[in-house]
Amino acid sequence: MQRKVVLQDGELPKEWYNILPDLPKQLPPPIDPSSRSPGPGILPRLFTKEQLSQEMSSERWVKIPEEVREAYSLWRPTPLIRAVRLERALKTPARIYYKYEGVSPPGSHKPNTAVAQAFYYMKEGVERVTTETGAGQWGSALAFAGMLFGLKVTVYMVRSSYEQKPYRRILMHAWGAEVFSSPSSNTEFGKRVLSSDPNNPGSLGIAISEAIEDALSHDSVKYSIGSVANHVLLHQTVQGLEARRQLELLDEYPDVVAGCVGGGSSFSGLFWPFYYDRVSGKAPKDVKFVATEPTACPTMTRGIYTYDFGDTARLTPMLPMYTLGSDFIPPPIHAGGLRYHGDAPTLCLLLKEGYIEPRAYNQVEVFEAATIFARTEGIIPAPEPSHTIKYVLDEALRCKKSGEEKVILFNLCGHGHFDLQAYQEFFEGRLQPWEYPEDAIRKSINRLLEEYPWIKDLPFLK
Ligand SMILES: Cc1ncc(COP(=O)(O)O)c(C=O)c1O
Repeated sequence: MQRKVVLQDGELPKEWYNILPDLPKQLPPPIDPSSRSPGPGILPRLFTKEQLSQEMSSERWVKIPEEVREAYSLWRPTPLIRAVRLERALKTPARIYYKYEGVSPPGSHKPNTAVAQAFYYMKEGVERVTTETGAGQWGSALAFAGMLFGLKVTVYMVRSSYEQKPYRRILMHAWGAEVFSSPSSNTEFGKRVLSSDPNNPGSLGIAISEAIEDALSHDSVKYSIGSVANHVLLHQTVQGLEARRQLELLDEYPDVVAGCVGGGSSFSGLFWPFYYDRVSGKAPKDVKFVATEPTACPTMTRGIYTYDFGDTARLTPMLPMYTLGSDFIPPPIHAGGLRYHGDAPTLCLLLKEGYIEPRAYNQVEVFEAATIFARTEGIIPAPEPSHTIKYVLDEALRCKKSGEEKVILFNLCGHGHFDLQAYQEFFEGRLQPWEYPEDAIRKSINRLLEEYPWIKDLPFLK
């Protein structure tokens, strides 16, 4: 039995896969709220030309620049590992494989897009980029990528994570980035939030607003996004393309591809190439796509499909997505990277069209699953992919009952070495099994629809 498949440097993919030409329906466009019609709003001020063109590209395969492949080769191709010890412990006939992205220098999948974006900013002469970060994974990935390509990086880090995860902040400093606790007094929006609520724990929506305001108010400064946008998900497909090849070398094909969703980049990066196989008739068998999320931030399982802003200050164009409302402040769960009020428009369209099965779990059951994984496979998983581990354990036990020899592939998109505080709270029985109240979701969406009643009449979501 082969435990692990490692590809050679030369087998690093040369192209990313773009899902846009293969979606079941045209992706509803972003809406500029000032004109109430399709338009990119401020996006051209924030992104490079290359990112904008990838955002709307109808080309199925997009060349990965050599400089980016060279940066990737520091840690890619990443290993595909069979969870042999976990399978044995569960006595399941299922075969479980994980694509391990924790081997990157920042410890997650996030640098797959960070290095590509940093390369494009450097090429277009940008001096500094701003961004937000939840758990600190994305901020540290951009700090690392900025260091590689000589870019200054400013990170607005959600306050609850800034306080819970000081080592991620230090990691960003080690790569030369500056880091603010968000809401901060570095921006007008942050000051407004703090004056009405000095103890505001922050949210990704607030941190995005601060990072965008900082970029818009300075020349030669752009904003970099770590998830949600089409071009970000496109860059992440390097994972799924490698995994498909690695499984092929084992003569395997997945029955299930699973991943966690914050904005949807890691999961999309893994499943898109298998989706391509499915819609182009190349998949040798039926493959199911399962997306996991926290009950504390249940965008896919309980959100509403409508147009909403990507940030709390409502600076971005409105995007078609399952949302909890852009003024949503999630409970301070430890999976900081899954605390976003919406999801990527491509993922939401596929969810709406029935291509994706969503599952929500509370953080207590998630940490129980993470601990079983750590005590069998040895790797300490980050809280975000541990949501998927919970699903995988349930599915493997289901296979044990039914005797099905399913092949399960999931994305272990980060290690948990900077999340040990969360593990400690779990071991001490101090974690809360948060559920976000239905009522709060309705109220937030109603506020949005009262302020923007014309959203209901837009033809694009019908
Ligand atoms: C390890 C890890 N996994 C998953 C996510 C969720 O983001 P996305 O859905 O874009 O992959 C994050 C976000 O920070 C993360 O750090």
